[in-house]
Amino acid sequence: MQEEIMSAKNQAMAQIMAAGDATELEQIRIDLFGRSGKITGLIQRIKEVPPENRQQVGILINETKKTLENLIAEQKISFKENAREWFDPTIPGIKKEVGHLHLITQAIADIQGVFERIGFRRARYPEVEWDWFAFEALNMPKGHPARDEWETFFVDTPENFRYGKMVLTPHTSNGQVREMQRVKTPPIRMINIAKCYRRQSDASHVPMFHQFEGLVIDTDISIVNLKGTLDYFAKTYFGSDRKTRLRPYHFQFTEPSFEIDISCGICGGKGCKVCKAGWLEMGGAGMVHPNVLKAGGIDPKKYSGFAFGWGVERVLMMQSGLSIPDVRMIYSPDLRFLTQF
Ligand code: PHE
Repeated sequence: MQEEIMSAKNQAMAQIMAAGDATELEQIRIDLFGRSGKITGLIQRIKEVPPENRQQVGILINETKKTLENLIAEQKISFKENAREWFDPTIPGIKKEVGHLHLITQAIADIQGVFERIGFRRARYPEVEWDWFAFEALNMPKGHPARDEWETFFVDTPENFRYGKMVLTPHTSNGQVREMQRVKTPPIRMINIAKCYRRQSDASHVPMFHQFEGLVIDTDISIVNLKGTLDYFAKTYFGSDRKTRLRPYHFQFTEPSFEIDISCGICGGKGCKVCKAGWLEMGGAGMVHPNVLKAGGIDPKKYSGFAFGWGVERVLMMQSGLSIPDVRMIYSPDLRFLTQF
């Protein structure tokens, strides 16, 4: 049987080398390794070999098989390489898919750019934060009912004797006191853009969203500066015809406090189906409360400041006219949605 294998091998090698094209080569492969192929038949006959010779024959047939398979593979490649000579350079190429930044990442960069132009500096502070920075230093002592508005996630870790429990930041206002402590002596012009977390999930709320928080502290800062800054933002980000309006409100960490509205881009403030009364609600703002300045180590007799905190998703949707049935779509991995931006 050994001789039979050797002669089959030699014959097969000659055939493979002589094959003229890929089709012929494939036929040879089938004749050798197909269900009734020559080599397949030899492998099946191993069981007829007397046990004392069986191992040797087995090794020989395996080697033969490997050699022939390799030879076929090499021939195949050489056919392909020759085929390149006929390559047609006029055939359109395969276009590589190119990704892009997520729409929220784009919006964050835009917002940052608008504020940097008037001297604000982007800051980032922890998104897993102590209760003290998120609430207490913001004039919201433990148990204060105002805290309820922030539907906070608490982290299950031991309490710190000074800073209390750990939370996922429910707003970017934790950055206010952190920035005051970092800078120590005003002026401060901060824009803190970060992720926020609240226990909410429905068509108009996501449990993880983004806010941008402005903080300006210096001597002689007044509501006029706040209004000027917000008007500048509205005109630059939304369009030169847009205006802002301050509406009295309450926050523990600002006094006085406001909600800011922006004139509707469709009707220009007259009132239409989209805005109803001519104005759209943007977010909170106010003059920094003296207790917050004190918590940040800044003398409220010498310095004053304003702060505002708005939602990135909200301003983006209003700027782009994006109308989606469910905000959670923004964070879905659905490319049919994401590739549109
Ligand atoms: N932190 C407030 C919120 O999440 C917004 C705000 C920021 C209000 C700064 C006033 C000043 O609703």
